[in-house]
Amino acid sequence: MSHPLVAVTDSVDATRALAGALAELARPGDLLLLVGDLGAGKTAFTQGFGAGLGIDDQITSPTFALVQGYTGRLDLNHLDVYRLEQINEALDLGLSELLDDGSVTVIEWGDTISSALPRDYLEVRITFGEDPDDRRIELNPVGSQWQARVRAMSVAVTEWVAPC
Ligand SMILES: Nc1ncnc2c1ncn2[C@@H]1O[C@H](COP(=O)(O)OP(=O)(O)OP(=O)(O)O)[C@@H](O)[C@H]1O
Ligand SMILES: [Mg+2]
Repeated sequence: MSHPLVAVTDSVDATRALAGALAELARPGDLLLLVGDLGAGKTAFTQGFGAGLGIDDQITSPTFALVQGYTGRLDLNHLDVYRLEQINEALDLGLSELLDDGSVTVIEWGDTISSALPRDYLEVRITFGEDPDDRRIELNPVGSQWQARVRAMSVAVTEWVAPC
């Protein structure tokens, strides 16, 4: 892992906007692993990311099906593997078909199954800040696919990158 990029948002809309800006860089086959505690904003990030992919449908937590699919400029597969059954289901699925279908795949709690995934993804790590609406969003490109986009990513999220 190299070049983590750290951004800060102070509202759910800002997190959605940041995610939407990142979606401009998305390509078919991309994988994003969202890491962060309950209520950190993983689903909110996915909503903004989906909007940036041109998805009009409302993106919600994938509660009943393991994978929720959405159609946009690029299609989105949205997974949440918080529960053990979901982890097992995801592992049973193999996930390779999903990752090869030309969509972009976003997995909430994705770090729990990262050992079963290709080492080429963007890890988005969301942590709570000082104020209730503050979030720290760390972008860790793992593997060449996203490492090659580090500069473009930093331009995309420049509005939310805290001055050093
Ligand atoms: N800066 C922010 N970014 C994202 N969400 C925020 C922010 N400030 C406040 N919130 C609120 O935090 C909550 C985030 O909920 P969300 O469902 O996106 O979290 P999650 O990480 O997906 O949780 P879960 O682990 O339950 O799936 C929402 O209620 C949202 O309005
Ligand atoms: Mg969620």
